[in-house]
Amino acid sequence: METDKELMNNVKVTWRCPSNIAIVKYWGKKGIQIPCNSSLSLTLSNSFTEVEAELSDKTTDEAVQLSYFFEGAVNEKFGQRVAKFLEDNREFFPFIAEKAITINSSNSFPHSAGIASSASAFGAISLALLDIAYSLEGKEKDEAFYREASNLARLGSGSASRSMYPAFAQWGENDNIQNSSNQYAIEITDIHPTFRNMKDAILIIEDEPKKVSSSVGHSLMNNHPYAENRFKQANERTAELVNILKNGDMEAFIHMCESEALTLHAMMMTSMDYYLLVKPGTITAIEKLMEFRKENNIPVCFTLDAGPNVHVLYPKAYEAQVEAFINDGLRDTYKKVIFDQEGNGPTKLNS
Ligand code: PMV
Repeated sequence: METDKELMNNVKVTWRCPSNIAIVKYWGKKGIQIPCNSSLSLTLSNSFTEVEAELSDKTTDEAVQLSYFFEGAVNEKFGQRVAKFLEDNREFFPFIAEKAITINSSNSFPHSAGIASSASAFGAISLALLDIAYSLEGKEKDEAFYREASNLARLGSGSASRSMYPAFAQWGENDNIQNSSNQYAIEITDIHPTFRNMKDAILIIEDEPKKVSSSVGHSLMNNHPYAENRFKQANERTAELVNILKNGDMEAFIHMCESEALTLHAMMMTSMDYYLLVKPGTITAIEKLMEFRKENNIPVCFTLDAGPNVHVLYPKAYEAQVEAFINDGLRDTYKKVIFDQEGNGPTKLNS
């Protein structure tokens, strides 16, 4: 019979976790990765990280012995962030006291696409390592597993908490949303057919690394003159969005989605240490898109994450018209475009 130690040596799991795009934005945090306001996002499908995690015998006496590879090469910088994440959260992974961990990670999107990869990366890392912990303890991977993975992913990158579920996910305590929590995200399941099969075309306006990291951005909400109003607005909007998604009110969705994008960037522009992440191409794409919507009466809208890239959201029913417009009318505004859509959440790739 295999001993526990031998069992641990055979462990190798691979998980794929998608990225997500927030409709109501999380911007500002306190304590240990607690959001200052609740947020709600759409889980994507084609933009994902795959993580293979494997255990072996330790060869050093480090508290956490981690070898982190990104697309085949050692990635020191992100590896150190992940090692710290493992060390800070070692109660989730009792095996790290005895075992070395090798992580091989890759993204479906080009490294230089300017797409934030921390949500999908911390999502996949959390799922893979928690899966190992559950298997070693003989625990079943049910709903509680995803909730715990969401909690763990949050501790790595707040937005990662929302990548655990299909389609729409909400994170952050909200008086008007049942079961909402600061610790983990929940799935929003009551979705009108209007919002099923949403598409997201990501216009890569710039593919350089961000000038200001999102952790610095979050911290600038600490002494921000508009912080309290912003947190209140975002909490109200999250609850309102749950109703919009239920009732199928596309007009209200478009209004909220675009206002949230501009409000996020307005917060950056009005921080004490102000900064600007939008580029001329961002503005041109937004203006052209608004014009296209008005002229053609097509329900298409934009959102932004903490960068210059434009996410164009539209129902699948309008993909032919919108994609023709993106390929033609918007062509001068972006370097490349990634066509993505609503996804089904994470998947395990081996048994
Ligand atoms: O998860 P973080 O710490 O990288 O923050 C993400 C913040 C935004 O992407 C701008 C908004 C959000 O809710 O995802």
